[in-house]
Amino acid sequence: MGYLLGVIGNPIKHTLSPWIHQQFMNETSINGIYRPYEIKEDELKESFNLFKKMNIDGFNVTIPYKETMLHYVDDLDERARSIGAVNTVVNQGGKWIGYNTDGRGYIRSLKQSYADLDTFVKNVLLIGAGGAARGIYDALNQESFPVVDIANRTRERAEGLLDSKENHVETSIYSLKEAQQNLQQYDLIIQTTSMGMTPNNRMMPIDLQNIKENTIVSDIIYNPIETSLLQTARKKGARIHYGHGMLLHQAALAFELWTGKTIDPNHILHELEQKLKGGSTC
Ligand code: ATR
Repeated sequence: MGYLLGVIGNPIKHTLSPWIHQQFMNETSINGIYRPYEIKEDELKESFNLFKKMNIDGFNVTIPYKETMLHYVDDLDERARSIGAVNTVVNQGGKWIGYNTDGRGYIRSLKQSYADLDTFVKNVLLIGAGGAARGIYDALNQESFPVVDIANRTRERAEGLLDSKENHVETSIYSLKEAQQNLQQYDLIIQTTSMGMTPNNRMMPIDLQNIKENTIVSDIIYNPIETSLLQTARKKGARIHYGHGMLLHQAALAFELWTGKTIDPNHILHELEQKLKGGSTC
Protein backbone atom coordinates (compact mmCIF):
# COMPACT_ATOMS: atom_id res chain seq x y z
CA MET A 1 0.00 0.00 0.00
CA GLY A 2 1.13 3.58 -0.68
CA TYR A 3 1.46 6.55 1.63
CA LEU A 4 -1.66 7.79 3.42
CA LEU A 5 -1.38 11.53 3.95
CA GLY A 6 -3.67 14.50 4.35
CA VAL A 7 -4.33 17.97 5.69
CA ILE A 8 -6.71 19.02 8.45
CA GLY A 9 -8.18 22.48 8.85
CA ASN A 10 -11.36 24.49 8.61
CA PRO A 11 -12.23 25.75 6.04
CA ILE A 12 -10.23 23.56 3.68
CA LYS A 13 -12.42 23.28 0.58
CA HIS A 14 -10.09 25.22 -1.71
CA THR A 15 -6.77 23.83 -0.51
CA LEU A 16 -4.10 23.27 -3.15
CA SER A 17 -2.05 20.99 -0.88
CA PRO A 18 -3.50 17.73 -2.31
CA TRP A 19 -2.51 18.91 -5.80
CA ILE A 20 0.99 19.95 -4.65
CA HIS A 21 1.67 16.65 -2.87
CA GLN A 22 0.27 14.64 -5.80
CA GLN A 23 2.86 16.38 -8.02
CA PHE A 24 5.59 15.50 -5.50
CA MET A 25 4.46 11.84 -5.46
CA ASN A 26 4.47 11.72 -9.25
CA GLU A 27 7.93 13.29 -9.34
CA THR A 28 9.39 10.77 -6.88
CA SER A 29 7.39 7.76 -8.19
CA ILE A 30 5.78 7.30 -4.81
CA ASN A 31 2.30 5.81 -4.52
CA GLY A 32 -0.06 7.43 -2.13
CA ILE A 33 -3.08 9.52 -1.36
CA TYR A 34 -3.19 13.00 0.18
CA ARG A 35 -6.69 14.00 1.28
CA PRO A 36 -8.18 17.20 2.72
CA TYR A 37 -10.16 16.77 5.96
CA GLU A 38 -12.41 19.63 7.02
CA ILE A 39 -12.73 19.08 10.75
CA LYS A 40 -14.63 21.03 13.39
CA GLU A 41 -12.91 21.81 16.68
CA ASP A 42 -15.04 19.31 18.66
CA GLU A 43 -14.23 16.55 16.13
CA LEU A 44 -10.48 16.95 16.39
CA LYS A 45 -9.85 14.25 19.01
CA GLU A 46 -12.07 11.72 17.28
CA SER A 47 -10.44 12.44 13.91
CA PHE A 48 -6.95 12.01 15.33
CA ASN A 49 -8.01 8.66 16.85
CA LEU A 50 -9.31 7.63 13.44
CA PHE A 51 -5.97 8.54 11.83
CA LYS A 52 -4.24 6.37 14.44
CA LYS A 53 -6.54 3.44 13.66
CA MET A 54 -5.97 3.90 9.93
CA ASN A 55 -2.23 4.08 10.69
CA ILE A 56 -1.77 6.92 8.23
CA ASP A 57 1.77 8.16 7.64
CA GLY A 58 1.17 11.78 8.55
CA PHE A 59 -0.75 14.95 7.90
CA ASN A 60 -0.48 18.71 7.59
CA VAL A 61 -2.23 21.06 9.95
CA THR A 62 -3.56 24.39 8.82
CA ILE A 63 -5.75 27.22 10.11
CA PRO A 64 -7.06 27.18 12.82
CA TYR A 65 -5.41 24.12 14.43
CA LYS A 66 -1.65 24.77 14.30
CA GLU A 67 -1.48 25.68 17.99
CA THR A 68 -4.15 23.23 19.20
CA MET A 69 -2.17 20.37 17.64
CA LEU A 70 0.65 20.97 20.15
CA HIS A 71 -1.52 19.22 22.75
CA TYR A 72 -2.44 16.20 20.62
CA VAL A 73 0.92 14.91 19.44
CA ASP A 74 3.15 12.55 21.50
CA ASP A 75 6.25 14.67 21.08
CA LEU A 76 7.48 17.85 19.44
CA ASP A 77 10.45 18.60 17.28
CA GLU A 78 12.64 21.35 18.80
CA ARG A 79 11.59 23.96 16.24
CA ALA A 80 7.85 23.30 16.63
CA ARG A 81 8.25 23.58 20.41
CA SER A 82 10.12 26.85 20.10
CA ILE A 83 7.61 28.28 17.59
CA GLY A 84 4.61 27.04 19.55
CA ALA A 85 2.79 25.69 16.50
CA VAL A 86 2.66 22.48 14.42
CA ASN A 87 2.04 22.36 10.67
CA THR A 88 3.21 18.79 10.01
CA VAL A 89 2.58 15.58 11.97
CA VAL A 90 4.61 12.44 11.28
CA ASN A 91 3.71 8.91 12.37
CA GLN A 92 7.08 7.57 13.51
CA GLY A 93 6.39 3.90 14.29
CA GLY A 94 3.17 4.67 16.16
CA LYS A 95 4.53 7.81 17.86
CA TRP A 96 3.05 11.04 16.51
CA ILE A 97 5.61 13.80 16.27
CA GLY A 98 4.78 17.45 15.56
CA TYR A 99 7.02 19.56 13.31
CA ASN A 100 6.85 23.04 11.85
CA THR A 101 8.18 23.59 8.33
CA ASP A 102 6.70 27.07 7.74
CA GLY A 103 9.70 29.20 8.75
CA ARG A 104 12.29 27.01 7.05
CA GLY A 105 10.13 26.87 3.94
CA TYR A 106 9.91 30.64 3.94
CA ILE A 107 13.70 31.13 4.20
CA ARG A 108 14.36 28.56 1.46
CA SER A 109 12.01 30.31 -0.88
CA LEU A 110 13.52 33.72 -0.10
CA LYS A 111 17.09 32.48 -0.59
CA GLN A 112 16.16 30.96 -3.89
CA SER A 113 14.80 34.29 -5.10
CA TYR A 114 17.68 36.41 -3.76
CA ALA A 115 21.14 34.91 -3.84
CA ASP A 116 22.61 38.06 -2.24
CA LEU A 117 20.39 37.76 0.83
CA ASP A 118 23.17 37.07 3.34
CA THR A 119 25.40 39.86 2.12
CA PHE A 120 22.72 42.44 1.35
CA VAL A 121 20.38 42.10 4.32
CA LYS A 122 21.38 43.45 7.72
CA ASN A 123 18.17 44.97 9.07
CA VAL A 124 14.89 43.11 8.82
CA LEU A 125 11.39 44.30 9.67
CA LEU A 126 8.79 41.64 10.42
CA ILE A 127 5.23 42.94 10.20
CA GLY A 128 2.79 40.89 12.30
CA ALA A 129 3.11 38.70 15.36
CA GLY A 130 0.63 35.87 14.72
CA GLY A 131 1.26 32.19 14.05
CA ALA A 132 2.96 32.73 10.70
CA ALA A 133 5.22 35.45 12.12
CA ARG A 134 6.29 33.13 14.94
CA GLY A 135 7.58 30.53 12.48
CA ILE A 136 9.37 33.09 10.36
CA TYR A 137 10.90 34.87 13.36
CA ASP A 138 12.22 31.52 14.58
CA ALA A 139 13.76 30.79 11.17
CA LEU A 140 15.28 34.28 10.95
CA ASN A 141 16.91 33.58 14.30
CA GLN A 142 18.76 30.66 12.70
CA GLU A 143 20.20 32.98 10.05
CA SER A 144 22.88 35.62 10.35
CA PHE A 145 20.79 38.80 10.20
CA PRO A 146 21.86 41.05 13.08
CA VAL A 147 18.59 42.98 13.49
CA VAL A 148 15.02 41.68 13.20
CA ASP A 149 12.52 44.28 14.42
CA ILE A 150 8.84 43.50 14.82
CA ALA A 151 5.90 45.81 14.09
CA ASN A 152 2.43 44.75 15.10
CA ARG A 153 -0.98 46.33 15.69
CA THR A 154 -1.03 44.83 19.20
CA ARG A 155 2.23 45.51 20.98
CA GLU A 156 1.69 42.87 23.71
CA ARG A 157 1.43 40.13 21.11
CA ALA A 158 4.81 41.09 19.64
CA GLU A 159 6.28 41.11 23.15
CA GLY A 160 4.82 37.64 23.73
CA LEU A 161 6.59 36.44 20.61
CA LEU A 162 9.91 37.63 22.05
CA ASP A 163 9.33 36.15 25.49
CA SER A 164 9.21 32.62 24.21
CA LYS A 165 12.48 32.73 22.28
CA GLU A 166 16.15 32.33 22.86
CA ASN A 167 17.12 35.16 20.56
CA HIS A 168 20.30 35.47 18.57
CA VAL A 169 19.12 38.61 16.83
CA GLU A 170 18.62 42.10 18.19
CA THR A 171 14.92 42.99 18.21
CA SER A 172 12.97 46.17 18.95
CA ILE A 173 9.21 46.30 18.90
CA TYR A 174 7.36 49.09 17.11
CA SER A 175 3.84 50.14 16.32
CA LEU A 176 2.91 49.96 12.64
CA LYS A 177 3.06 53.77 12.48
CA GLU A 178 6.55 53.94 14.04
CA ALA A 179 7.84 51.30 11.65
CA GLN A 180 6.31 53.13 8.71
CA GLN A 181 8.20 56.29 9.60
CA ASN A 182 11.53 54.44 9.76
CA LEU A 183 11.21 52.10 6.78
CA GLN A 184 14.37 53.45 5.13
CA GLN A 185 16.53 51.55 7.62
CA TYR A 186 15.34 48.10 6.50
CA ASP A 187 16.84 45.91 3.76
CA LEU A 188 14.12 43.27 4.04
CA ILE A 189 10.48 43.85 4.99
CA ILE A 190 8.34 40.77 5.61
CA GLN A 191 4.55 41.10 5.68
CA THR A 192 2.84 38.26 7.62
CA THR A 193 -0.57 39.68 8.56
CA SER A 194 -3.80 38.86 6.77
CA MET A 195 -4.11 42.43 5.45
CA GLY A 196 -4.33 42.39 1.67
CA MET A 197 -5.65 38.86 1.39
CA THR A 198 -8.68 38.31 -0.85
CA PRO A 199 -11.36 39.66 -0.38
CA ASN A 200 -9.56 42.58 1.33
CA ASN A 201 -7.19 43.08 -1.60
CA ARG A 202 -6.75 46.82 -1.12
CA MET A 203 -5.61 46.71 2.50
CA MET A 204 -1.97 47.27 3.47
CA PRO A 205 -0.61 47.17 7.03
CA ILE A 206 1.80 50.07 6.35
CA ASP A 207 2.43 52.54 3.57
CA LEU A 208 5.73 52.24 1.79
CA GLN A 209 6.46 55.93 1.33
CA ASN A 210 9.80 55.70 3.13
CA ILE A 211 11.34 52.53 1.73
CA LYS A 212 14.71 52.71 0.04
CA GLU A 213 15.27 51.47 -3.47
CA ASN A 214 16.43 47.86 -3.72
CA THR A 215 14.87 46.85 -0.40
CA ILE A 216 13.33 43.40 -0.61
CA VAL A 217 9.61 43.49 0.21
CA SER A 218 8.15 40.07 0.90
CA ASP A 219 4.50 39.19 1.46
CA ILE A 220 3.48 35.71 2.59
CA ILE A 221 -0.04 36.15 1.22
CA TYR A 222 -0.43 34.21 -2.05
CA ASN A 223 -4.05 35.02 -2.75
CA PRO A 224 -3.81 37.33 -4.65
CA ILE A 225 -0.35 36.45 -5.93
CA GLU A 226 0.64 40.13 -6.08
CA THR A 227 -0.84 41.98 -3.10
CA SER A 228 -1.33 45.77 -3.07
CA LEU A 229 1.76 45.97 -0.87
CA LEU A 230 3.89 44.15 -3.45
CA GLN A 231 2.44 46.19 -6.32
CA THR A 232 3.32 49.40 -4.50
CA ALA A 233 6.80 48.11 -3.63
CA ARG A 234 7.47 47.13 -7.24
CA LYS A 235 6.44 50.57 -8.47
CA LYS A 236 8.80 52.17 -5.97
CA GLY A 237 11.78 50.22 -7.28
CA ALA A 238 11.90 47.64 -4.49
CA ARG A 239 12.63 43.99 -5.15
CA ILE A 240 9.67 41.78 -4.33
CA HIS A 241 9.14 38.25 -3.06
CA TYR A 242 5.84 36.41 -3.54
CA GLY A 243 4.04 34.29 -0.94
CA HIS A 244 3.42 31.13 -2.96
CA GLY A 245 7.12 30.19 -2.76
CA MET A 246 6.72 29.60 0.98
CA LEU A 247 3.63 27.48 0.31
CA LEU A 248 5.62 25.22 -1.99
CA HIS A 249 8.75 24.96 0.13
CA GLN A 250 6.97 24.23 3.41
CA ALA A 251 5.14 21.46 1.52
CA ALA A 252 8.40 20.04 0.13
CA LEU A 253 9.91 19.94 3.64
CA ALA A 254 6.81 18.16 5.00
CA PHE A 255 6.98 15.66 2.12
CA GLU A 256 10.63 14.99 3.00
CA LEU A 257 9.70 14.33 6.64
CA TRP A 258 7.09 11.75 5.63
CA THR A 259 8.89 10.00 2.79
CA GLY A 260 12.60 10.76 3.21
CA LYS A 261 12.62 12.09 -0.37
CA THR A 262 14.23 15.46 -1.01
CA ILE A 263 12.38 17.37 -3.63
CA ASP A 264 12.96 20.53 -5.63
CA PRO A 265 9.49 22.04 -5.85
CA ASN A 266 10.37 24.65 -8.45
CA HIS A 267 9.26 22.52 -11.37
CA ILE A 268 5.63 23.10 -10.35
CA LEU A 269 6.03 26.81 -9.53
CA HIS A 270 4.66 27.98 -12.87
CA GLU A 271 1.69 25.62 -12.78
CA LEU A 272 0.91 26.69 -9.20
CA GLU A 273 0.95 30.33 -10.32
CA GLN A 274 -1.54 29.52 -13.06
CA LYS A 275 -3.80 27.76 -10.55
CA LEU A 276 -3.65 30.69 -8.14
CA LYS A 277 -4.37 33.14 -10.93
CA GLY A 278 -7.34 30.96 -11.82
CA GLY A 279 -8.78 31.65 -8.37
CA SER A 280 -7.87 28.56 -6.30
CA THR A 281 -6.95 29.19 -2.68
CA CYS A 282 -5.41 27.17 0.15
P1 ATR B 1 -1.64 33.69 11.23
O1 ATR B 1 -1.60 32.36 11.93
O2 ATR B 1 -2.05 33.57 9.79
O3 ATR B 1 -0.38 34.48 11.42
P2 ATR B 1 -2.98 35.15 13.30
O4 ATR B 1 -2.24 34.34 14.30
O5 ATR B 1 -4.44 35.38 13.53
O6 ATR B 1 -2.86 34.51 11.86
O7 ATR B 1 -2.22 36.57 13.14
C1 ATR B 1 -2.72 37.59 12.35
C2 ATR B 1 -1.74 38.78 12.30
O8 ATR B 1 -2.34 39.77 11.46
C3 ATR B 1 -1.51 39.48 13.65
O9 ATR B 1 -0.24 40.06 13.66
C4 ATR B 1 -2.59 40.55 13.64
O10 ATR B 1 -2.35 41.64 14.48
P3 ATR B 1 -2.80 41.60 16.05
O11 ATR B 1 -1.78 40.79 16.77
O12 ATR B 1 -2.83 43.01 16.46
O13 ATR B 1 -4.16 40.96 16.06
C5 ATR B 1 -2.52 40.98 12.20
N1 ATR B 1 -3.76 41.63 11.73
C6 ATR B 1 -4.91 41.02 11.36
N2 ATR B 1 -5.82 41.95 10.97
C7 ATR B 1 -5.22 43.16 11.10
C8 ATR B 1 -5.65 44.51 10.86
N3 ATR B 1 -6.87 44.78 10.40
N4 ATR B 1 -4.75 45.50 11.11
C9 ATR B 1 -3.50 45.24 11.55
N5 ATR B 1 -3.05 43.98 11.80
C10 ATR B 1 -3.90 42.96 11.58
